[in-house]
Amino acid sequence: MLLDRIKPLDAILAAAEKKSLKRSLGAIQLMLFGVGCIIGTGIFVLTAAGAQKAGPGLMLAFVIAGAVCVVAALCYAEIASTIPVSGSAYTYTYATMGELLAWTVGWALVLEYAIAASAVSVGWSGYFVGTILNEFMGIHLPAWLSAGPLFLGGAEGGLINLPALIIALLITGLLMIGTSESAMVNAVLVAIKVTALTAFIALTLTSAYFDPDQFNPFLPAGMFGGFGSGVGAVGAAATIFFAYVGFDAVSTAAEETKNPQRNVPIGLIGSLLICTIFYILVAAGAVGTIGGQPIMGPGGIPFPAGSEELARQCALPEHAGALVCSKEALAHVLREIGFSGIGNMLGIAAFLALPSVILVLLFAQTRIFFVMSRDGLLPEVLSRVHPKWHTPHIVTAATGAVVAVAAALLPVGQLADIANAGTLYAFLMVAVAVLVLRKTRPDVPRSFKVAGVWFVAPATVLGTAFLFLNLPADAMMVLPIWSAIGLVVYFAYSRSRSHLGKGIVEVVDDVAGEETMIPIHPPQH
Ligand code: ALA
Repeated sequence: MLLDRIKPLDAILAAAEKKSLKRSLGAIQLMLFGVGCIIGTGIFVLTAAGAQKAGPGLMLAFVIAGAVCVVAALCYAEIASTIPVSGSAYTYTYATMGELLAWTVGWALVLEYAIAASAVSVGWSGYFVGTILNEFMGIHLPAWLSAGPLFLGGAEGGLINLPALIIALLITGLLMIGTSESAMVNAVLVAIKVTALTAFIALTLTSAYFDPDQFNPFLPAGMFGGFGSGVGAVGAAATIFFAYVGFDAVSTAAEETKNPQRNVPIGLIGSLLICTIFYILVAAGAVGTIGGQPIMGPGGIPFPAGSEELARQCALPEHAGALVCSKEALAHVLREIGFSGIGNMLGIAAFLALPSVILVLLFAQTRIFFVMSRDGLLPEVLSRVHPKWHTPHIVTAATGAVVAVAAALLPVGQLADIANAGTLYAFLMVAVAVLVLRKTRPDVPRSFKVAGVWFVAPATVLGTAFLFLNLPADAMMVLPIWSAIGLVVYFAYSRSRSHLGKGIVEVVDDVAGEETMIPIHPPQH
């Protein structure tokens, strides 16, 4: 049977018990932690791509994507409190639906974490080139060095995104030598991001440039552009869903939370709500001041964000200064409405804060590979730990190289869409796993239990499937193709080497003796 290799839950729980972290976190700390993981390229950069898909309806897109994330977050919180070990959706699936499906989830998580890290690297590159090089140093990096050559279904027109390549490699290097982000650094970066967004909202909403007419028409590409079209408010929701990715890290902190039944949902939903409110207000400020109408192609359909056609349109004088053309959307808006200095400060905020998002994502990826390798499904060399640095240096280097190459070649919007495809699949499987576990193991203690799970989990399944189908077809197709490659690897390599398949049950929860390298974990007092 193909689906019979289910990892025994009791073994996992026994291992988790040994770890038993101190319960020290309250709701506010969880929220701060969540906001730190969530706010990044999504709002600072993809606002432009979102507007190109939905126009002012981008505000609605933030609500739709936020709603799907809230139900998904509840499912994550329950399963993380039931199976509190690392490996995230991969481990949850392994313990509920078996190795084959777990493999597909682990394989899809590569898109969630590695490709998302590439997307944030490209987003960072936009601010580095625009604010640091251009505004402060007067250096104009030519287009062929600041954009990748590829665009699935077209060409982006550059040769290599050098800054994105370099930042991805730098972060990889830091992770290899065991750098972790302290709670202090996280708090400072959260403050920087929140201050930047608050200033943006205050300045735009009170600006003399603010004009309610800019919101007309509100849905120039319609609510629903059709499955695979990637346009309309729902198409934009599928893209800017990226702006919420990262909250799953909060659910993994469930076991370190005081009174988790109360604090975990407050922390999760609280951080998502805070971000949603910020995002809607930022979108309102951007669209209300400089406008956010998409540039329309033939048939009144917006040109694909990141495509060469759009780049050509953006070069025309009539589209100079358009929101949808900017690679550093928020700084650009402030400069356009006369706040160049503050726009540059916001650019510096993004320049400083985005690398920590890359760090968290890349770290999460190496952790998934590490667990899969320890399960025997990936080569053992990937779980080798460096004697001095105490980090899984080989898997970190290999992952970082792939992240850097993807960042060098593809545009940010398309990377985010591909990352979303993998993430949505993982979220869907987590929701199914929650229901399976309620049925098969009602006895296992859950420190957080979703109220109304028979509504929340199916809503997550439907919501994630719906957003997935509204991704642009090219990005959507990456998931089945990537999964097919994964299945070939599984049957050719992993299945026969699986430790569980050989009858060995082992649960590994950490890189040997190295707890300090968990940058996604909040402080323990
Ligand atoms: N939510 C994170 C970001 O927007 C991944 O950068």
